[in-house]
Amino acid sequence: MKLIWRLKSLNEYSSWIFKLAVAVLLLGFACRLFFYQSSSFEPNIETPFVELSKEPVPSAEIPEPPPPPPPVTVDMPKPPASVNTSETFLSSGVQEHEDETPQEELNDGKCDLFTGDWIPNTSGPMYTNATCSLIEGHQNCMRNGRPDSGYLLWRWNPRNCELPPFDAQRFLEVMRNKRWALIGDSISRNHVQSLLCILSTVEQAVEVYHDEEYKSKRWHFASYNFTMSNIWSPFLVKAAIFEDNNGVSSSEVQLQLDKLDTNWTNLYQSFDYMIISTGKWFLKAAIYHENDTEVGCHICPGKNLTEKGFVFAYEKALRYAMNFIATSKHRGLIFFRTSTPDHFENGEWHNGGNCTKITPAKEGEIELKDLNKILRSVELAEFEKASAKAAENGVNLKLLDFTNLLLSRPDGHPGPYRQFHPFAQDKNAKVQNDCLHWCLPGPIDYWNDVIMEMAVNG
Ligand SMILES: *[C@@H]1O[C@H](CO)[C@@H](O)[C@H](O)[C@H]1NC(C)=O
Ligand SMILES: *[C@@H]1O[C@H](CO)[C@@H](O)[C@H](O)[C@H]1NC(C)=O
Ligand SMILES: *[C@@H]1O[C@H](CO)[C@@H](O)[C@H](O)[C@H]1NC(C)=O
Ligand SMILES: *[C@@H]1O[C@H](CO)[C@@H](O)[C@H](O)[C@H]1NC(C)=O
Ligand SMILES: *[C@@H]1O[C@H](CO)[C@@H](O)[C@H](O)[C@H]1NC(C)=O
Ligand SMILES: *[C@@H]1O[C@H](CO)[C@@H](O)[C@H](O)[C@H]1NC(C)=O
Ligand SMILES: *[C@@H]1O[C@H](CO)[C@@H](O)[C@H](O)[C@H]1NC(C)=O
Ligand SMILES: *[C@@H]1O[C@H](CO)[C@@H](O)[C@H](O)[C@H]1NC(C)=O
Repeated sequence: MKLIWRLKSLNEYSSWIFKLAVAVLLLGFACRLFFYQSSSFEPNIETPFVELSKEPVPSAEIPEPPPPPPPVTVDMPKPPASVNTSETFLSSGVQEHEDETPQEELNDGKCDLFTGDWIPNTSGPMYTNATCSLIEGHQNCMRNGRPDSGYLLWRWNPRNCELPPFDAQRFLEVMRNKRWALIGDSISRNHVQSLLCILSTVEQAVEVYHDEEYKSKRWHFASYNFTMSNIWSPFLVKAAIFEDNNGVSSSEVQLQLDKLDTNWTNLYQSFDYMIISTGKWFLKAAIYHENDTEVGCHICPGKNLTEKGFVFAYEKALRYAMNFIATSKHRGLIFFRTSTPDHFENGEWHNGGNCTKITPAKEGEIELKDLNKILRSVELAEFEKASAKAAENGVNLKLLDFTNLLLSRPDGHPGPYRQFHPFAQDKNAKVQNDCLHWCLPGPIDYWNDVIMEMAVNG
């Protein structure tokens, strides 16, 4: 991957870095609200948040707009700090690996399933809002009244190989008595619902477990004794998160960079297959700890702590998690999935950003945003280090990098249709857009074609 900063003159470079730092800060504020809300306001009947909360909670269908982010000019680290912050963006992990394309080796010398095109398939999706009851309200674009349906009529077609469509029957047969887990943030939840909806065309999934916050869940397919878990662990490392049910945080996240989140590590050996991912939560305001000592922070003015930048934390946390995996003696198959690109245009989540396209983009039409590039660079670098170690230890670790597949699908997000009929009352209503998660059915259904190919046929 070519990173822009190499090519810039020193002056341009500094101003670019400064803009980037500002963007990071803005996004940090935005994500604070966005990720919490998008993962928590489940309009399913079973959602317990209303009862659990002592605070008044906006109705699941129409969450109140989050309060505006704090003014950047006040909270932003002073220029010297942001320059130092930006240095961490350029830390080795980001720069070293820019030209490497690890995908070839990851497909065992076979064709590259991650490079391809979206081609028409007019038969439409394998499931709909009417056949699957597991779709989270905010991603149920059909039910929420999204008027166009052309985005449902494309399938992913790798350029140099045949990718058979997902075969739910065969998948369940092959996975008889097996246990799967999808581990990560709300994108993992988005994905688990896609997979469950497809599998439910053969047999209905039965929810057999949820934690007290309804964040981690497990489903069982009785005829196949197949178990699917979704484990909520947005950082993979231990984190104390101080956000109320409105997504308003009362304090920075406290992140233990050298302690893994036992939510997933305790169950790790019980799974045959895992898809592990993380990403955007690291952009949030956080205090970083190592060895039980505060070592710095990200976006914490007035705390007398060194602004380290999120890359510092992301590299350490990911390295720690990857090292655990690579040395784990696990005998199943583990996928590490890179974080996913968003398509906010004309702004970001909190200030009117939207995504209005209704067809896939042409190749090269959309460039990966800088923040997404940075996250992905760290991910690829850490994956690469870990995969060598994993191979030595007989751990089967593979990469799922859906960046290209997703980048060309700006049409796949809920946009305003994260809410139920957002324009029913007022066709000019100002509503929040979701250009990060994916409509179900939608493009991420095709992740499963790729995963099946790698896990079953590969
Ligand atoms: C920024 O880093 C430079 C050296 O890299 C150091 O001399 C300076 O004190 C740092 N500034 C702050 C505010 O930490
Ligand atoms: C097109 O979509 C339908 C329904 O999802 C599916 O059954 C069919 O296999 C797809 N065709 C191809 C060529 O992928
Ligand atoms: C599914 O969406 C359609 C609109 O596309 C709507 O008419 C229908 O009521 C929805 N069904 C369910 C079960 O949500
Ligand atoms: C179901 O699968 C689990 C492993 O996931 C296994 O321990 C158990 O024995 C299986 N049950 C039956 C009835 O085969
Ligand atoms: C572990 O799971 C619990 C219950 O879902 C959740 O409250 C907690 O935030 C999770 N831990 C981390 C580090 O995310
Ligand atoms: C961790 O902290 C303890 C004391 O709090 C210290 O004895 C130990 O050397 C530290 N370990 C590392 C690796 O820094
Ligand atoms: C900030 O931290 C430094 C080093 O830990 C300490 O010397 C200084 O007194 C602190 N300043 C304030 C205002 O707390
Ligand atoms: C998207 O945002 C831009 C800029 O705020 C605005 O001009 C445009 O009308 C919006 N499009 C839709 C469909 O909301």
